[in-house]
Amino acid sequence: MKETPSFSAHLKANAFAVEELLSALLGPAVGADEIARPANLLAAMRHGVLNGGKRLRPFLVSECTALLEGDADAALRVGAALECVHCYSLVHDDLPAMDDDDMRRGQPTVHIAFDEATAILAGDSLLTFAFDIIAAPETPLPDRQKTALILALARASGHGGMAGGQALDLAAEKRAPGEAGIVTLQAMKTGALIRFACEAGAVIADASDEDRRRLRAFGEKIGLAFQLADDLLDLTADAEAMGKATGKDAARGKGTLVALHGQAWAERELEELVAQAENLLQPYGARSAILVETARFIANRRS
Ligand code: IPE
Ligand code: IPE
Ligand code: MG
Ligand code: MG
Ligand code: MG
Repeated sequence: MKETPSFSAHLKANAFAVEELLSALLGPAVGADEIARPANLLAAMRHGVLNGGKRLRPFLVSECTALLEGDADAALRVGAALECVHCYSLVHDDLPAMDDDDMRRGQPTVHIAFDEATAILAGDSLLTFAFDIIAAPETPLPDRQKTALILALARASGHGGMAGGQALDLAAEKRAPGEAGIVTLQAMKTGALIRFACEAGAVIADASDEDRRRLRAFGEKIGLAFQLADDLLDLTADAEAMGKATGKDAARGKGTLVALHGQAWAERELEELVAQAENLLQPYGARSAILVETARFIANRRS
């Protein structure tokens, strides 16, 4: 199924706003309390960030915030921060010591365009900068909400979330996990940041615990769907459409549900996850139409 023009226009407009903000934040001017911005490191950070990703995570932050009538500027900044964490995870994921990939978003990966040490430091700097963006005075939220966002993002990113999931992903190349092990590693390496994106909307809007739980659960479902789609696309799509190498998961012996159960099962499971995600949004009625479309986009995307 192809997404409707209004949905893709909406996604693109948000991506444009995120990119403008990230480009400004990653400009050459030395920020308050910074000593200098080394030009080569900054160029590598910009290469890792400003290279045409889908910007799906910031879109989720903005749409979940809009659903609960939170502040759009705050959502944009939190989305930009989350995108920094995501891009850092990709820069490190592509390193020779991890997935060893040369192409990302249709361009040479950061360690190819620069060098490995610079790619490591660009990733470190992007991760740290994410927390700077949220905590900074320009983010129009009370400190209590900023602290809640920083705590949730730290937990989603670290050893109990994305980075921990990456560790399990690499371990799974050596010793194949069972179904439960794969679900856990995917919920961590990919799901945690997507869950944060959705939950952040409720925090930014200072919504009820019930809303926060509901969006968190929605994020969990679409997070699993997202990685399942990525694993399917690794099998079925070509590198040109994806902007990154494909066919590598099987070659490296990655632990994926597609490898375990096959393509047809994965396609059915994707539909099931999207249906469950949609169900969670029912209390919001028509106001959640865009988020419903986003869940479908995640399952049906071609890149
Ligand atoms: C790729 O994420 C890495 C995974 C978590 C599977 P995306 O598919 O969102 O990558 P970009 O940001 O659009 O390039
Ligand atoms: C990446 O999973 C997850 C993170 C970067 C945290 P993959 O290794 O499958 O992502 P791609 O396929 O390289 O984008
Ligand atoms: Mg990987
Ligand atoms: Mg990879
Ligand atoms: Mg992949």
